[in-house]
Amino acid sequence: MDSTKISSPRHILVANGKGGCGKTTVATNLAAAYASTGQQVALWDYDPQASTQYWAEIRHAREEACAPIEALASFKGPRLRETLSFSRRASEGCDVIVIDAPSLSTASAQFENLVRMSDVIVVPVMASSIDIRASKRFITDLLTHRIYRARPRPIGVVGNRIATYSANYEKLEQFLACSGIATISQFRDTPVYSEAADQGIGVIEMSDNRAARREYRAWHTLTSWIDEQTPRQSTNTQARPRAAGRKVQHGAEQIDQTHKNNA
Ligand SMILES: Nc1ncnc2c1ncn2[C@@H]1O[C@H](COP(=O)(O)OP(=O)(O)O)[C@@H](O)[C@H]1O
Ligand SMILES: [Mg+2]
Repeated sequence: MDSTKISSPRHILVANGKGGCGKTTVATNLAAAYASTGQQVALWDYDPQASTQYWAEIRHAREEACAPIEALASFKGPRLRETLSFSRRASEGCDVIVIDAPSLSTASAQFENLVRMSDVIVVPVMASSIDIRASKRFITDLLTHRIYRARPRPIGVVGNRIATYSANYEKLEQFLACSGIATISQFRDTPVYSEAADQGIGVIEMSDNRAARREYRAWHTLTSWIDEQTPRQSTNTQARPRAAGRKVQHGAEQIDQTHKNNA
């Protein structure tokens, strides 16, 4: 059997300074999309609102089998200066780590740490003028941030809750074209996303739902783009046997253990 060993996981940061643009939705659906291919996926929740954790808890409690995702409440984690070394230890054995960021200022120390640990950054943007304005500022701040400039990594915008192309969205695309950033995918505005969230799954796992199936292509486009942008880590597409019932882990517990091990 041909399987390639992966040395380090791909860290995917889902971020935008704007609240409500779909960061958690994109993070949970990305995690589910990768897990459904048999990859070992971890989902790190840096948002004290803990929506991703809640989603993972529902997922873990489901009676129907679904691909395991290891969830970590990173907002309960170590002090900022310890975050990077902690994240390296916590990522052992994973193929993909999806990081759900809170709506942070680009000037914050936490934002710096999240950018530093990322290999690729996905920015969900909704097509209202307020969202586009905030997202433009966020992307400009990100592109000029010293941490980003020290090691530029791919940034991909995904349009979220897109009904149809609007004049606003065209303006955003013009700005992105000037910055050299592409719009990778667009997700429709459909209740199937909240239905998936309520069930602890991703739309990619709702094969009996027509509205969900209409979204498949957009998710495959996004994961393919991420794979292309992170070639060193994107080697194993072969399905692995799934571990039975991996638990939602809470950062503080794991960190305590990690510190004990290192003491
Ligand atoms: N494509 C979509 N279609 C319909 N509802 C969506 C979509 N994306 C997100 N939502 C809903 O919008 C709300 C905010 O999304 P969320 O992912 O929590 O944003 P953020 O994490 O950026 O604050 C949630 O209720 C979510 O279910
Ligand atoms: Mg969120």
